[in-house]
Amino acid sequence: MKGKLITFEGSEGCGKSTQSRRLYEYLKKRKKKVIYLREPGATKVSEKIRTILLDAKNNAMLAECETLLYMAARSQIVGEIIKPKLEKGGVVICDRFLDSTLAYQGYGLGIDIDFIRCIGKFATFGIKPDLTIFLDLPVNKGLMHRYGCCDRIEKRPLSYHLRVRNGYLKLAGKDSKRIKIVRVEKDKNNTQKRIRKLVEKYAF
Ligand code: TMP
Repeated sequence: MKGKLITFEGSEGCGKSTQSRRLYEYLKKRKKKVIYLREPGATKVSEKIRTILLDAKNNAMLAECETLLYMAARSQIVGEIIKPKLEKGGVVICDRFLDSTLAYQGYGLGIDIDFIRCIGKFATFGIKPDLTIFLDLPVNKGLMHRYGCCDRIEKRPLSYHLRVRNGYLKLAGKDSKRIKIVRVEKDKNNTQKRIRKLVEKYAF
């Protein structure tokens, strides 16, 4: 692939969307041909799947169904937007990608990790991020930011969110070349500075 795929990961309320958008604005100003996407979502079909996935009323949804729906949404965004953009040499910033399914459905819900990797390869057309920024914040601090606005995933117990964070740390430990851990600082500007340094060092 000629282009670059930079993904952002993290548990609830870590400030991932703010930081990834700021990076997008920064790269755009520097004349990079960059687009910003979020997962699940970004295409008409994937946004519809997102609504089903996050609807708190869908509390009967099985972990298997949930895993496949995240993958379905992913295959659409990759085939429709990410793959063509990377083939043209553009930069794609994606707020969440396959690591989210490994952390949330794999480590969080107990779906087999190798199985997720296998269907993940299918859903992503074999595309892997060039760089993944994992924004790390203690789970209780992150959940405090989400108080009162809970979707189906956010509503899960603290123990679930702890498994997700530990899952991310395991993934980062196993693939330290691609996944860089950025500890979230109180000062958002400092966090952004550290992200930009990593992007300049490892993605360009
Ligand atoms: P967001 O809050 O970052 O927009 O993500 C939506 C929610 O979906 C969030 O709670 C994380 C969850 N999620 C998964 O459980 N598995 C996945 O594969 C993805 C992409 C998101």
